[in-house]
Amino acid sequence: MSDFTRRQAIGTAALSATGAALAATHGSAAAQVPASAAAAAFAGKHAPKPLPFNPAKLTGLSEKLITSHWENNYQGSVRGLNTIETRLAAAMADPEFPPVAYSGLKREELHRTGSVVLHELYFGALGGSGNPGGSIAEALGNWFGSHDAWAAEFRRTAMSLAGGSGWCVLTWNAHTRSLHNYWAWDHMHGAVTGTPLIALDMYEHAYHMDYGTAAARYVDAFMANLDWAVVDARYRAAIA
Ligand SMILES: [Fe+2]
Repeated sequence: MSDFTRRQAIGTAALSATGAALAATHGSAAAQVPASAAAAAFAGKHAPKPLPFNPAKLTGLSEKLITSHWENNYQGSVRGLNTIETRLAAAMADPEFPPVAYSGLKREELHRTGSVVLHELYFGALGGSGNPGGSIAEALGNWFGSHDAWAAEFRRTAMSLAGGSGWCVLTWNAHTRSLHNYWAWDHMHGAVTGTPLIALDMYEHAYHMDYGTAAARYVDAFMANLDWAVVDARYRAAIA
């Protein structure tokens, strides 16, 4: 074999190997491994959590409002998340399922998950006296200068979303190890490495029935019903 022929043979072999590697990589990225509907990730078995308080006993938030919010908006998100998970399993079983359509399902998975989690944090911290206490109250005073200064910024953040949609979220940022009132335009807006401690729903469905467009009065009512023992437990778990 001449040098030219040998080099050509080596080059052809190298190209073939590269092609095989690329094909393997591509095959891996686009692998069509059917998802088992029994797998937890695609089971679609999320169950709504009951309200941890009597909705007729809150101050300034009507039973009709709370019940409607819990039944329609929250449970609707739970049902939606379950549907999306089963659709993801079906899509994974379809080799021809378009990537752009899969993108839509993944977006909706994130959206519904955010809604379920934030609503559970919202309802889960209601039913209290509104009187701050515990290590979280002390920490907020330290970070913001005073508890009132924290509360003022929390309310300002909430009102910046009034008339639109979103969440005002007191968050423990595990990366910066600090507390912040974060602005969330929708269910998918969360601080990276953030653990929500208080989630205030600023979508109009959360207050319009009781307060119309008077969102500030709704924020007052939310604060008056906060269970700070719950918030403190979340904080202590987050910093542990
Ligand atoms: Fe809501």
